[in-house]
Amino acid sequence: MNFDFNKLTSADAFKLLSSVVVPRPIAWVVSQSAQGSLNAAPFSFFNVVSSDPPIVALGIGPRAGQLKDTSRNILETRQFVINLVSAELAEQMNRTSLDYEAEINELTRAGLSTTPSLIVSPPRIAQSPAALECKVWQVLDAAPQRVIVLAHVVGMYLRDEALLNPGKFYVDTPALRLLGRMHGAGWYAHTSDLFQMHAPSASNDPAVKPAQGH
Ligand SMILES: Cc1cc2nc3c(=O)[nH]c(=O)nc-3n(C[C@H](O)[C@H](O)[C@H](O)COP(=O)(O)O)c2cc1C
Repeated sequence: MNFDFNKLTSADAFKLLSSVVVPRPIAWVVSQSAQGSLNAAPFSFFNVVSSDPPIVALGIGPRAGQLKDTSRNILETRQFVINLVSAELAEQMNRTSLDYEAEINELTRAGLSTTPSLIVSPPRIAQSPAALECKVWQVLDAAPQRVIVLAHVVGMYLRDEALLNPGKFYVDTPALRLLGRMHGAGWYAHTSDLFQMHAPSASNDPAVKPAQGH
């Protein structure tokens, strides 16, 4: 079956896209209002889209025709922190997706604590093994109250035990035990079902152009 997205409702488009673009990493975003109220919420319409410059993309939908607290905060202060979600933090991450009043700190409600970031004002989640400090680069105005943010990563935290070789920036990614978001009805994936495949050898295929790097 083929689908013409011009003829789909946004709910149906969401169902189709979120069912096949899997697993999605989860950005557990800590943001702050102009008055300094802290907010945390998970977003899986998220990925890194460039490393030079280091850019992440985040898609935040509307809630009942209004901006979500995260969108409002990001538009107001232009800074936020993306915390990555390890398996042991699954329940707490899920809890922070509840629709609390803007002045309620979801992190406190979920029994989590924060620690200062290196560069941006919003803190990171102390229990998260990795965090990206972000400053807004561009906000794309895709649809009413729907915010697509492209942001520069200006700093990063990584738990010391996950850094295998600081000089070479080798990271023990499996040790982070990060979760991915799957399809509807609350499905998630562990990132532990791994296999390794090396880049193919160009020497056996004469149609391959001489190496020029990435
Ligand atoms: C794993 C997970 C992923 C989510 N991904 C998104 C997303 O990509 N975009 C979005 O708008 N909402 C997403 N949500 C829902 C938001 O987390 C939820 O609306 C939250 O209450 C927003 O909080 P805020 O109003 O404090 O910003 C997700 C929820 C969960 C549990």
